[in-house]
Amino acid sequence: MSSETSAVPVITIDGPTASGKGTIARLVAQALGWQVLDSGALYRLTALAVHEAGGDGSDAEQAARLARQLDIRFDGAQVFLRGRPVADDIRAEHIGELASRVAAWPAVRAALLERQREFRMPPGLVADGRDMGTVVFPDAPLKIFLDADVGIRAERRYKQLIEKGISVNMVDLLKDLRLRDQRDRGRAHAPLVAAHDAITVDSSRLGVESVVQQVLGLCRARGLAA
Ligand code: DC
Repeated sequence: MSSETSAVPVITIDGPTASGKGTIARLVAQALGWQVLDSGALYRLTALAVHEAGGDGSDAEQAARLARQLDIRFDGAQVFLRGRPVADDIRAEHIGELASRVAAWPAVRAALLERQREFRMPPGLVADGRDMGTVVFPDAPLKIFLDADVGIRAERRYKQLIEKGISVNMVDLLKDLRLRDQRDRGRAHAPLVAAHDAITVDSSRLGVESVVQQVLGLCRARGLAA
């Protein structure tokens, strides 16, 4: 990391699956006029590449090679893999599940590290994921750990999927979220954990707007925003 890029402020928002990190990161970035990094999308794109190569995530070398070779482009809400729009494909539940498995391989994480840091561009970056504050941007001046009760996260995810016309079973969804939480928190490399200097925000009983206002208030308090 050059001293130039490390001077660019970063707000990290880490937390478990379906805690609302993506929405909050996007809205905070919009309010500040900063860049946004959805790091989960990089793991999901790797998972999609593995899936399309006929893999199941058990081959670390294959997953790492595909992660290193990822030909991707972000354009607003759309994301392209080898020139093909895949924003919806990477949101499929089975790709999220596969992403959580390939993300456990250290070689995959190493392959994606520099790519994530490349998003650090002026005037600032809001980065969401699992290890943004602990591993990728440890020098970030503001770190948020966004948590929410697993039952509430499952309800939110259920509503999102139903709105998209995808039929889901609440019992399976809850089971899947618990499994993913366990895997993300329990892995040996870069597990999901709040950085020692992170501020935990529990969004279980808070609406999106109040969480955004809370984060923007913290930005102002740290002199990151006017
Ligand atoms: O945030 P998400 O649900 O889109 O992320 C998909 C998977 O990618 C998640 O189960 C864990 C992994 N991930 C990770 O290990 N580290 C990150 N910084 C972001 C995501």
